[in-house]
Amino acid sequence: MKRHTLFELAWILPSLALPFGILVAILVTVFGVGMHVPSAHSRIDPKQAATTPPFDQLGVFETGYMSYEVRMLARTWSFDPAEIRVPVGAEVTFVVTSQDLVHGMLIDEPNVNVMLIPGEVARVKAKFDKPGEYPIICHEYCGIAHQTMWARVIVEPAATVLQTTENGGDDHAAR
Ligand code: CUA
Repeated sequence: MKRHTLFELAWILPSLALPFGILVAILVTVFGVGMHVPSAHSRIDPKQAATTPPFDQLGVFETGYMSYEVRMLARTWSFDPAEIRVPVGAEVTFVVTSQDLVHGMLIDEPNVNVMLIPGEVARVKAKFDKPGEYPIICHEYCGIAHQTMWARVIVEPAATVLQTTENGGDDHAAR
């Protein structure tokens, strides 16, 4: 083989291997690992959001052991509810949409990063392993008071949760 042919191949083969490798990586993450972009689960009329299930009842809902669903609405310039309380170790599924403009929802740790498009219902999961306060930030510019649009997740330590459970009545008794 001529020398310049080897040089050609040394360029061409990696440049073919690279996109092929990326394609394989995408296929493995989507079909093998089951990873998807947080995307619209369903679509509702944003103007009717407050009266459309599940957003007619906002807040934190227990869906199983250490499993919670948080139904939230984003609007100019707030999140409703603005404060969410869950016990440490909780796996939370956020079900969120925007009532008006495009907003964002960012929690640094655990990693939640989703664009809230009016009427597109986003579902995104996060697990809260450490007690503390986790700010939820709007990270899509949404007007003059964009920087004031935030909420928070308060993750309560196990002892507090135990106390709440003891005082909490019958719904925990079965466990
Ligand atoms: Cu909402 Cu920025």
